[in-house]
Amino acid sequence: MTMIATERAQSAMHHAPIASTVASPARSSLNELRAEGVTKRFGGVTAVNNVSLTLQPGQVHGLIGTNGSGKTTMLNLLSGYYPADEGSISLAGQKLTHAPVQRRPHVGIARTFQKPRLLGTLSVLDNVMLGGWKDTRAGFLSTAFALGRAGREERMLRERAAELLHGIGLGHLMHRKANLLDHAEQRFLEIARGLTMQPRYILMDEPAGGLTEHEIEQLAQIVTTIRDCQVGVLIVEHHTDFVFRISHRVTALNLGQMLKEGTPDEVRNDPEVIRVYLGA
Ligand SMILES: Nc1ncnc2c1ncn2[C@@H]1O[C@H](COP(=O)(O)OP(=O)(O)OP(=O)(O)O)[C@@H](O)[C@H]1O
Ligand SMILES: [Mg+2]
Repeated sequence: MTMIATERAQSAMHHAPIASTVASPARSSLNELRAEGVTKRFGGVTAVNNVSLTLQPGQVHGLIGTNGSGKTTMLNLLSGYYPADEGSISLAGQKLTHAPVQRRPHVGIARTFQKPRLLGTLSVLDNVMLGGWKDTRAGFLSTAFALGRAGREERMLRERAAELLHGIGLGHLMHRKANLLDHAEQRFLEIARGLTMQPRYILMDEPAGGLTEHEIEQLAQIVTTIRDCQVGVLIVEHHTDFVFRISHRVTALNLGQMLKEGTPDEVRNDPEVIRVYLGA
């Protein structure tokens, strides 16, 4: 993170490592986030058809495929945005298939969006703090009025959010309105917001979309740091060089179905993947 923070902030900005502010669950297969045979239909369209995928703590899993192949739908299923029509989703052995989306932060699954969704007129710091409210036992309203414990919790959340922003290289922009950030900064801000909840998993929808080569390098460092904190990462991406370089395992989808799952080399060299996606 030093390079990112240094390059973005340039001067004598204090930056704390992300490592101190994200959760570090024990490495164990019991902590897997697992989708088994999930199917999702929209009217006559089967967006995801019998797909299985397992995420591990401290590992990066890439999800690739042509436009409309079901990548975002798969992320939406894993994050609880949609319920699956068939199949199941479990975290650490507990079925999550029918857990409402509001509960997902509590079970430790954060996400970013294909098009960044920020509250543009709020500050960068406030946007990141919004990612962490699940922790505050006092709740949003009483926190807003800064009463008793709520005041202390808000201060702790503010400190954690500020540390994350420094670690991700946005510390110098903390008090700027979110809509004044450039595109890459908005993408990194979404990641910081997700990390504020100290998730076990973070699911990113095309985080490299619209980024320059240099910014993709910064993103790679951010993802590596998150991974090293034992958080599991799902990366939905069209930038296949980036995915193959950073992932432990990769799943390729086509028309909602699994085309291939394996190591980056296995997927990159698979004749069907080359035929329908990489060679296109
Ligand atoms: N909310 C929805 N309502 C109806 N159809 C949908 C909905 N979401 C996705 N679809 C359809 O499901 C299929 C898969 O879409 P999805 O967005 O998951 O693809 P994707 O792989 O993320 O594509 P892209 O690379 O373009 O982002 C597409 O045919 C899409 O039109
Ligand atoms: Mg998509």
